[in-house]
Amino acid sequence: MAKQYPLYINGNWIETTEKLEVIDKYTQDTYASVYKAGEKEVDQAITSARVAYKKEQLSPYRRFEILKRVSELLMERKEELALVITKEAGKPLKQASSEIERSAQTFEVAAEEAKRIHGEGVPVEAAPGSENRMAFTIKVPVGVVGAISPFNFPLNLVSHKVAPAIAAGNAVILKPASTTPISALKLAEIFEQAGLPSGLFNVVVGSGSTVGNQMMKDERIDLYTFTGSAEVGLKLKQNTGLKKLILELGNNSPVIVDKDADVELAAKTLAQKSFAFAGQVCISVQRIYVHESVLGEFQQCFVDEVRGLKVGDPNDPDTDVGPMIAEQEAKRAENWINEAINQGATVLQGGQRKGTVMQPTVMFDVKKDMRVVCEEVFAPVVSILPFDDLDTCIDEVNESPYGLQGGIFTQDLDRAFYAARKIEVGGLMINDASQYRVDLMPYGGVKDSGNGKEGPKYSIKEMTEERLIVLNLNK
Ligand code: SIN
Repeated sequence: MAKQYPLYINGNWIETTEKLEVIDKYTQDTYASVYKAGEKEVDQAITSARVAYKKEQLSPYRRFEILKRVSELLMERKEELALVITKEAGKPLKQASSEIERSAQTFEVAAEEAKRIHGEGVPVEAAPGSENRMAFTIKVPVGVVGAISPFNFPLNLVSHKVAPAIAAGNAVILKPASTTPISALKLAEIFEQAGLPSGLFNVVVGSGSTVGNQMMKDERIDLYTFTGSAEVGLKLKQNTGLKKLILELGNNSPVIVDKDADVELAAKTLAQKSFAFAGQVCISVQRIYVHESVLGEFQQCFVDEVRGLKVGDPNDPDTDVGPMIAEQEAKRAENWINEAINQGATVLQGGQRKGTVMQPTVMFDVKKDMRVVCEEVFAPVVSILPFDDLDTCIDEVNESPYGLQGGIFTQDLDRAFYAARKIEVGGLMINDASQYRVDLMPYGGVKDSGNGKEGPKYSIKEMTEERLIVLNLNK
């Protein structure tokens, strides 16, 4: 029988009357089941977070110790956890293992940052009439953090929400994606093992329209941190009044291969990185703008490299591209490809789908208003778009409503930094794919890609308030 996972509320493992099946995304068999949270459980989770936040004011050093221990335990359980991700998300084993290592890093960085949360001196005495005053700020936690995480990094994007929240001294209610909730429940086990007091971390599983909506409307949550679609991000913004929000939303990453690029490096790097986790990564390369003068060379090398990717069973340690999260998503991507073909696009490689597995697909002869180009495809599909003038290319790049990360391959520093100043993104990679992320860096987009930054140091800034303290000295 498939393993059953209870919810984690106030340090207790809770079974409810309804369960949700978690499917093995490759075989489509039931992998596990999870108890679903109803209104009562969501309410209990929020209450226990509030109570624990008031009662358990852990010292920064204690927070450091707990988070550091979580990091160690993640590494100790790496094989078991990687397998969970491979089953529940369909992520190829080698990418799932790297996700565990990154999660351990995220917790380690958050642990270190817990010791560096501080305010600053404020020279109020420099204001006329304030000669006898002194002032400084301190950083205080926001209180209760509501975290809503996506399916594509079921452990590390949970970690990016929970680790800084705890480092900053907050309590957390997490709603993981209902397609991939097991990693988050495993993390709850690890927090328990690491000695986090009850109530500071709670996991409630259910759909966005039930659990998510209830969280969104609850006045006792002080800050929301969300990764997902721009549509849901906007709904959160419209429904949470003056609450603080960290939003990581959609994207359709551009990468420019300029006339003086190291074409082989560009082609190999982009082929390796563009299709990781079947393109279901917010910074996946989607639009590759190639200078006319290197187009032929790039195309040949890129397509050859893509042909060499191993596609199929995510349990095979050599697999590069596994299944998508659901057949309906793979069908959507296939429809977008066919729609583009009907509008004149050609397929240089791939294009076929078998069940949830979509072949890594390279499109050409595309137009900028085709959905595979202008919307977020979130599938293993990239388009090659020729250009001959860098400024015109950058204008086209910036026509996208999104701006999370992008890239440029060039050996000319002037052109690289020109592009860095002009391209509207949260991060630009020079001589790398847009899909570069290490867990200590600031991560977050502009325009419809969201606001606020992840990366423990940066999230902690968002998850604390700066409080000013002024001394009125009589002498
Ligand atoms: C994301 O899809 O936004 C996360 C990418 C990453 O952490 O590598």
